[in-house]
Amino acid sequence: MTTPQSPFRGSVTLDGPSGTGKSSVARGVAARLGAAYLDTGAMYRAATVAVLDAGVDPDDAEAVACTVAEARIVVGTQAGIEVVEVDGTDVAVRIRGAEVTRAVSAVSAVPAVRRQLVEQQRALVAGAEAVVVEGRDIGTVVLPDATLKIYLTAAPEVRAQRRAGQLGVTDPGEIAALAADLRRRDEYDSSRADSPLRPAEDAVVVDSSELSQAAVVDRIVALAESAVAAGDRT
Ligand code: DC
Repeated sequence: MTTPQSPFRGSVTLDGPSGTGKSSVARGVAARLGAAYLDTGAMYRAATVAVLDAGVDPDDAEAVACTVAEARIVVGTQAGIEVVEVDGTDVAVRIRGAEVTRAVSAVSAVPAVRRQLVEQQRALVAGAEAVVVEGRDIGTVVLPDATLKIYLTAAPEVRAQRRAGQLGVTDPGEIAALAADLRRRDEYDSSRADSPLRPAEDAVVVDSSELSQAAVVDRIVALAESAVAAGDRT
């Protein structure tokens, strides 16, 4: 069934921890709203590629900041086409690898890196009439005046199972290791001093533990449409 595109104008922010299905939901919402889509996690991952390629220790904040300041990070804003480049090289596949995933929390905790990427995110969004932006601090820091803010969460064991399904992992020990890695990243992202992961005060919290992805998309699209109908756009 195809749903007619809505006349949505404004911004939807989608924040929350890893493994909630946030990216798939964000892409689905963007497609339904006919909106641009920005994956800010891809930007922090691209910055991490620059750091690793420069041979810099991800925990050396000063060296990380200098390296990222010199990197040319390009991320696309179309839901259907993933464009991620560092200095002209396509890194769309590499940013999802284990090496980048291990180092990205440290790189994204560096305040100078966050300032640089937040500025770039705001510039990318400024040109779009309708946009869905996903990340960790979009409703709290990047777009505090967004039309609609969603904080997507799910029970930790559900998140680990979903991640295992995506990776084709069935071994209980490996699933437990995935759960431990999700917890480690959540703790790091939620406890960092600069822009920790937390729901904005005016965010709608959606728990996807017992909802299908399609149901979550439906719920957010309905909320976006009623936010516009209520003249909520700022
Ligand atoms: O959503 P993701 O797993 O691709 O995000 C990768 C990392 O980047 C994650 O550890 C949190 C961080 N991140 C962030 O600090 N702020 C954002 N707006 C997006 C991601």
